[in-house]
Amino acid sequence: MTNAASPYGTLPPASDMASRKPISLPRLNDMRARGDKIAMITAYDATFAAVADAAGVECILVGDSLGMVCQGLHSTAGVSLETMRYHTESVVRGLRRVQGTAWVIGDLPFGTYHESPEQALRSAMVLMQAGAHMVKLEGGDWTPDTVHFLVQRGIPVCAHLGLTPQTVHALGGYRVQGREPAAAAQLHKDALALQQAGASMVVLEMVPATLSSELTQALSTCHTIGIGAGNGTAGQVLVLHDMLGINLGKNPKFVRNFMSGTDSVLDALSRYVAAVKDGSFPDNALHAW
Ligand code: KIV
Repeated sequence: MTNAASPYGTLPPASDMASRKPISLPRLNDMRARGDKIAMITAYDATFAAVADAAGVECILVGDSLGMVCQGLHSTAGVSLETMRYHTESVVRGLRRVQGTAWVIGDLPFGTYHESPEQALRSAMVLMQAGAHMVKLEGGDWTPDTVHFLVQRGIPVCAHLGLTPQTVHALGGYRVQGREPAAAAQLHKDALALQQAGASMVVLEMVPATLSSELTQALSTCHTIGIGAGNGTAGQVLVLHDMLGINLGKNPKFVRNFMSGTDSVLDALSRYVAAVKDGSFPDNALHAW
């Protein structure tokens, strides 16, 4: 793709892309040390991945939210590993076409890492062989052993705490987590255990802004990525379709529609990246849960 005008926006020339360096864990660590925020977005196909990369996101999450966004499911629980492999490969191919530099995170779907660390390893290998640089898994105190097992075998891991959509039924709905002191203390304990196990990133979903700021301060080698968790985290993530305003359901209140006022997806994504970097997104007033 070279400087082509499209409904997605005008991508930079391939020569510009070639001068950019691939994102790696050391580069993310350097960003954290400099206080630069990490911009992450979900993508599920080649074209949106290429546009997100051109907009300057550091990380692309091939999230199992694709179950709702692409497959029309009611929750992420029905997504299969084969579906995740297919979409991870599509994203990686799109990035290769444009010499993209984004760090790709493949989401391990429900039931593919719950039985044992060995099962998690087999599942993670499928996504890594599809081109992911890291895998993500949800859950607290039962996951550090699995995280350790994967990290020891050379697979970088992103954890996911707070609202964990795969277990939405156990949580009683898509609701804020960690409001009560005991729940906040448990999240704290889980986050530290996951860092100790070797997780280099943790998504904090729908937790109070004060708690996610505290966790960010408490974690030194594990980067916090917030969604509905205020702006005190090391980075932010949003579901692509939510921030483009094309969610089939109701957008969560913490989401901003970055398409509003533009007709270019590239522009919307660039504005998202800029707002994450300058701290103007998210607005903490919307996270005083
Ligand atoms: O699957 C997904 O898109 C996610 C994000 C909501 C963080 O896990």
